[in-house]
Amino acid sequence: MDKKTELNWEELGFDYIKTDYRYLSYWNNGSWDEGLLTKDNVLKLGEASPCLHYGQQCFEGLKAYQTKNGDIQFFRIDQNAKRMQDSCKRLLMPIIPEETFINACIDVVKANLAYIPPYGTGGSLYLRPMMIGIGNSIAVKPASEYLFTVFCMPVGAYFKGGMTPVNFMVSDYDRAASNGTGQQKVGGNYAASMIAHEIAEKKGFADCIYLDPITHTKIEEVGAANFFGITKDNRFITPNSNSILPSITKYSLLHLAEHFLKMETSEEDVYIDELDLFAEAGACGTAAVITPIGGIFHHHRLHVFYSETEVGPVTKKLYETLTAIQLGDLAGPSGWIYKI
Ligand code: PLP
Ligand code: COI
Repeated sequence: MDKKTELNWEELGFDYIKTDYRYLSYWNNGSWDEGLLTKDNVLKLGEASPCLHYGQQCFEGLKAYQTKNGDIQFFRIDQNAKRMQDSCKRLLMPIIPEETFINACIDVVKANLAYIPPYGTGGSLYLRPMMIGIGNSIAVKPASEYLFTVFCMPVGAYFKGGMTPVNFMVSDYDRAASNGTGQQKVGGNYAASMIAHEIAEKKGFADCIYLDPITHTKIEEVGAANFFGITKDNRFITPNSNSILPSITKYSLLHLAEHFLKMETSEEDVYIDELDLFAEAGACGTAAVITPIGGIFHHHRLHVFYSETEVGPVTKKLYETLTAIQLGDLAGPSGWIYKI
């Protein structure tokens, strides 16, 4: 059965869709097994698995894109592999070698070709690599066994409307502690963020903005994405903090802004009371791609950047440049594209 005829590619959001195959590899006695693809999307775990009690787990998120001529490619997959190793080290989990990570992702894409949104639909295949500590051990210490798995699903826009501006509200909650695990992609950060997200959504905002956990004066993250602003004198600015996720999209935009758009760029403190500096603002990430920020609600007032309905010209140019590279329409910097 050809799934391509069943899914409405243009209407895809960011919801779980069961695809045909996922990759599993187990770590035991100091080494990873060979790994395999399976059709079963249910995991069977010991009830005292440390991932279930103490959150010993980490994950990644990356996309495979179909190009105009039908090729399939990843965007900066090596960076996801490296970041996962960093998360593993922080939680005392065994690292997954970069080659194993990449090969597992390739196997999953090749086994689920029917689910890759065609070029031009705005969709892509989102891959979710994940590692969890398993084996029954109730003490607060690293697990004795681990599972590395990768599944995938076709996705469209993460925030409704994609490149349509949306509004965010500043949260009173912190997402991660300074010197905590904010720089790693670990489940605990996301569990801690759900209440803030729910409050923002109930108040009619797309998501929340987190401030720095020490002074609550500086912007950290925009939900599950990094923040960037374009100053009125055309500089690309993004927060510098040890409690935000080092976004691969953000580092890509820093490069594109500097080398393709010839802008000055910097990672620096972004004070919530100095939003007037910016002509435009956006959220960036694998799922979010670039989502223009219409306005930020803080202290009973909505600060609107460029417009609540129109995308600013620099944000638009950055989006066009980034997505053209991801889709193979524009040559990116060397090493950014991995053809499958
Ligand atoms: N910040 C958080 C908290 C995230 O979950 C993500 C998503 O991965 C990002 C930022 C963006 O990171 P990346 O561009 O590597 O996807
Ligand atoms: C991503 O952009 O890959 C994310 O992980 C964001 C979110 C869906 C958790």
